[in-house]
Amino acid sequence: MADSLRGLAGDFKRFLAAQEEEELLDISRPREDAPALSPAALHQAGAFAAQAAPKMAENSTLKVDFPRAQPQPAPEENPVNKTDKTRALADLAEVIKTCTRCPLGATRLNAVPGEGNVNADVMFVGEGPGFDEDRQGRPFVGRAGQLLDKMILAMGLAREKVFIANIAKCHPMVDPLHPEKHGNDRAPNAQEIACCRKYIEQQIAIVCPKYVIALGGVAAKALISDAASLGALRGKFHNLHLDSVQLPKPVQIIATYHPAALLRNPNWKKDAWQDLQMVMDQLGLKGARK
Ligand code: URA
Repeated sequence: MADSLRGLAGDFKRFLAAQEEEELLDISRPREDAPALSPAALHQAGAFAAQAAPKMAENSTLKVDFPRAQPQPAPEENPVNKTDKTRALADLAEVIKTCTRCPLGATRLNAVPGEGNVNADVMFVGEGPGFDEDRQGRPFVGRAGQLLDKMILAMGLAREKVFIANIAKCHPMVDPLHPEKHGNDRAPNAQEIACCRKYIEQQIAIVCPKYVIALGGVAAKALISDAASLGALRGKFHNLHLDSVQLPKPVQIIATYHPAALLRNPNWKKDAWQDLQMVMDQLGLKGARK
């Protein structure tokens, strides 16, 4: 058992290292020489069949098309046990912390891989770290995070029971020359999302929650459809399809408002609450019904 875990960790590290290479950013070239995880490790790490990520652009306004993976028959149950998941997520977090695939790597104070329960039923995905998250290296710890904590509690869950991550792992700043500035946040651009995409996909595949809740338009468009508005994506379940990994079992995703948007527009909270209740109903959570 110990040997197989060591093998898994080794396989997974090599897999992640291979993904760091430039060649994986080039979708025009087949990846014959890229090391693959052994079938057992693929299952255990929840990271299946890595495909190429969209090519990194020189200019940040590049339109990136995200290819969608073909849905594949999946095993009934996620075979990844808690120890393996913890190790796979920790290995991935180490890669993220030293990532310099996009220019944000040069200006962040701390990368923010994400955190939470490796066996969570619910995973929240935001857009990217802000000022406080950049300082602490933890997701959703600022004002928006405090509201997210309340939303989680209202659902009858707790922060320790869910997994929280972002599409972009480094603080996207309006003015990277002045990271000490407050209000220096912006949404990640297409290039940054393309570079970071494999990380959130691998995290989702490893945790393999029952439901992903995309917080805001950036996360919703990156994970559901870049063609639709948040308004068009809200209010229904979508089957989640990832580009770079195959999910061990089907995962559903809903989109709702970002907590920061709810702080600016408190009248949207009613709609956000309805979105959260869709997931609560499926999970049989009582929560704080109003
Ligand atoms: N906003 C996000 O999208 N993510 C965070 O972690 C914090 C604020």
